[in-house]
Order: sequence, then structure tokens, then C-alpha cells
Amino acid sequence: MEENVVLTARGISMTFPGVKALDNVDLTLRKGEIHALMGENGAGKSTLIKCLTGINDFEAGEIRIDGIEGPVKNHSTRDAQNVGISTVYQEVNLCPNLSVAENLFIGREPLTKLRTIDRKSYNKRSQKIMDELGIAVDVTQNLENYSLAIQQMVAIARAVDMDCKVLILDEPTSSLDDEEVEKLFVLMRDLREKGVSILFVTHFLEQVYAVCDRITVLRNGTFVGEYPIADLPRVKLVAAMMGKDLDDLAEIKKEQKDFSKEPMEISAKGLSHAGTVKPFDLDIHKGEVVGIGGLLGSGRSELARCIYGADKAQTGTLSVNGEQVKINQPIDAMNKGMGMLPDDRKAEGIIADLSVRENIILALQAKRGMFKQLSRAQQEEIADRYIELVQIKTASKETLIKQLSGGNQQKVILARWLATDPDFLILDEPTRGIDIGTKSEIQKLIVKLAGEGKSVLFISSEIEEMLRTCNRMVIMRDGQKVGELDHELSQESVMKAIAGGES
Ligand SMILES: Nc1ncnc2c1ncn2[C@@H]1O[C@H](COP(=O)(O)OP(=O)(O)OP(=O)(O)O)[C@@H](O)[C@H]1O
Ligand SMILES: [Mg+2]
Repeated sequence: MEENVVLTARGISMTFPGVKALDNVDLTLRKGEIHALMGENGAGKSTLIKCLTGINDFEAGEIRIDGIEGPVKNHSTRDAQNVGISTVYQEVNLCPNLSVAENLFIGREPLTKLRTIDRKSYNKRSQKIMDELGIAVDVTQNLENYSLAIQQMVAIARAVDMDCKVLILDEPTSSLDDEEVEKLFVLMRDLREKGVSILFVTHFLEQVYAVCDRITVLRNGTFVGEYPIADLPRVKLVAAMMGKDLDDLAEIKKEQKDFSKEPMEISAKGLSHAGTVKPFDLDIHKGEVVGIGGLLGSGRSELARCIYGADKAQTGTLSVNGEQVKINQPIDAMNKGMGMLPDDRKAEGIIADLSVRENIILALQAKRGMFKQLSRAQQEEIADRYIELVQIKTASKETLIKQLSGGNQQKVILARWLATDPDFLILDEPTRGIDIGTKSEIQKLIVKLAGEGKSVLFISSEIEEMLRTCNRMVIMRDGQKVGELDHELSQESVMKAIAGGES
């Protein structure tokens, strides 16, 4: 093995029924580097990772690991851990109803002399690990009491603590805010200093340039190339991923008009929910796209849930189309022409054992009620239309959703809400985990829907994409509106409003 190389994969091929997920793929990881693994949704990144960690059995190729004699073929997950390969998967697989400490030590609990679990020692060790990583948690609390972001950090802490040579992070940042991403990067750089080799998957290109040393690009299950970061500027990276130039990024043309003259679609007055949203006023006109800016925990998702009845508002009133309505639960909102793509797809979204078609028609069917079943032909027509519209990469509409790549699962959930054809659509992080090409397609779609007279409430952790699509932005902090921007929307003005409050 070359000097400084910790792991090589050569000629890896792997087939799922009907899908060649990997075709002759190579990967080389060097000691103390951060290596980006890039590619569109469904390119094969997670599949390759699962070959390295022993979850997937590949049919051709070999993996070599520093310090291990001969090639490794289809080792077990435990073998992989024993040789120092640690992973945080795209889907966080922790136990929400166990404590943080229990999650950190599951399967490797420290024992007392009597061979019982040494709870005291692992609580103490856990607290030390979390403190060192700068993650503010009480490790004796159940994991479910913390945000998705914290849960993600716990998963990383667990991997890091297992003394790894190779740390694999499959989209660890998709639910973190900027500050938390920065914390994670500090940690990653620190590990790199210590000689750990990190394989990093993300759809945020700027993150690649912020921390990575090298990039391997996959496209459609094939290896495109391996490049030092300096040789692959952003446009070239995108071209390598997509197999063509992405030159339509500037093309989005949002409607420039005075929306205050348009009829009101949604009007909330004094809407609140204890502990999360303080009395809030919000007006959205027909055809208007309103973004909500704010840090994680500022109450953006909670406000959306309150409007939609996912959390019942405790005070205030809501009018739809000028008529005051009572919304006690989401079905009431749906019947008033609303739809909401929620932030937590895992808990509120994907039904793993149903097909893509069944997942797409779910909300529409619920809205129609059980006595107005969609015919099979209608279901198929709708599924086909939305698979095409949001570019879902799937072998067929009957494929189980769990067999799709992470980003393509997200697209199915987006399709589900578009299929209900709402007049008012709430989108909470609609492009999370979605690749750069499709992301710009979805942004265009939002602007197009608005052009057809639909109203949209848009929440995204990427200010840039809200700037591209929103006519107006409302800024939140601590569950309150602290600013509003309609003209002069710019990265700077929004950041300033988020940081400083009043604008
Ligand atoms: N369990 C499975 N059964 C069948 N097909 C699968 C399974 N897992 C993945 N695939 C298919 O393999 C291909 C590669 O998927 P993979 O999850 O590796 O993509 P990815 O690059 O990680 O994409 P994303 O950015 O969306 O996470 C896709 O076509 C996917 O549908
Ligand atoms: Mg993936």
C-alpha cells in the first residue's frame, strides 16, 4: 500500500434488484485528510459507504485497509469497526427514548467489577465527551428531548469516541445551523490533525471548499475522478457531478410587484403556542412567496406548525381568503386549501414499506376522505406526473420508498404535498439533502407555482435560496418577529436582521 494511504477501494461494483448502484468505483483515503464524496442524488455515495462499513455485500472489487494483510471482501460491520472505520449514516439511527449517555455507549457499555453496566462511569465519561465537543446537553436526559441537530452531534460523538482511523460522515450537516456546522468543522479539523481520515458527504458545496482537501466524484454509480480541491473549482465540480454545465442558476425570475394590492390568502393575528411562538401577526397575499429567516430554534418551524394546526394555536385568529377559520388539526388546514412539507421527514414523512406511488398519493387521499378513493389509474397518473415534475430517480413507481436514495426519498415527500394542489403551501426545508441541480429545479418550481397564484411560506437554512425565490422575508428570533424585509433583499441585509434583530 502506498505510503500515507489508510484505505483503498478498487473496482467496487454492486447491484440492487434492477439497479446497478456501483459500477467499478475507486476510492483512496489518505491519513489525515478530509475527503469529499460528491454526486447527485442516487449517484451511489451511501451505497459505497455501506460497502466500506460492511452493510452492503458488493459483487466485485476489493477494499484494502492499512495494517491489514490482503484484501478485505464483504467484512461484517463489527470487523469494520474493529479496524477503525466509524460511521454516521444519513439516517440517524439512535434510540430517541434512551438517554444521551446510553446512546453514546450502546453496544459497548463499560462494566463494573460485577459485570453489570457501570452507569455512573459512563454518565461521567459521556458528559466529558460532550463537553469537550462543546455540545451543551445533559447526558442523562432522553435523546428525544433534544433537537435533530443535537441528535446528529450525538451520533458523531459516538463515532468519534470509538477511536477511529476512518470517520465517515454521510450528510451530517443537513439539519445543522451555521453555528453548529462551524462547531462540527472545528471538530473535523481537529481530528484531521490527529491523523484521522474523514470521508465527508454533503450537498452544500461551500462546505466542501471550507474543509475538504480532496474530492472524489461519482455519477450514476460510476467513478468520474479524484481531484485535489484546488483543481476543481465550483463550476467544474458541478459539471463533473451532473455531466453537464449548470448554467441556469441565474435564470430564476420571480415576480416583481406590489403584493399589498393582491387579495389576502392567509392572515394570522396574535397566533401563539406556549413556549415556542409568541403572539405573531403574518399576512401572505395571493401569489406571494414569504420566507422566514432565523437561526435554528428561533421558532420558524413552530410558527409553521401553528398555522397548519400541527400544534394547536393557543391564542389568536387565522383567516384564509378573508374568512376566519378554526384549525384544530392538519386535516382542517388541508380542507382549507393548505399543505405543509414538515421539517422532520423521518418522523412525519416517509412510510418505508409503501411504494413511491402510495407515498405520493397519501396526503391527497387523506384530503379526499376514505369514501372518495382514488382509482388505481388516477394514482398511477398522479405518481407519474410528480415523479417527472420533481425528477425522482426510481426504478419504477412501485418501488418501495426505502429503496430510494436519501435525496430521492425527500423528493417523494415534496411530491406528496404538491399533489394535494394547495392554494397555500408551507415548505419547511424542502431542498434539504437534495443535489444542486434538482435544488435549482425546485426553486424554479416554487416561483412557477407562485406565478399561478399560489402562496408559499418558505423556510430554509440557506438564505441564498430564500433570496432567489422569496418576495418578502420575515425574520424571527426567540419565537418572535424581529424584522421584515421586502425590497433590498440581500444576503447582507438578511444576515444583519437575523443577527441584530431590528432591521
Ligand atoms: N436498499 C436498496 N434497494 C434497492 N435499491 C437501492 C437500495 N439502496 C440504494 N438503492 C439504489 O442505489 C442507487 C444509489 O443510491 P445511494 O443511496 O447510494 O445514492 P446517494 O448517492 O447516497 O444519493 P443521495 O444524495 O440522495 O443520498 C439509487 O438508484 C438507489 O435507488
Ligand atoms: Mg445518500
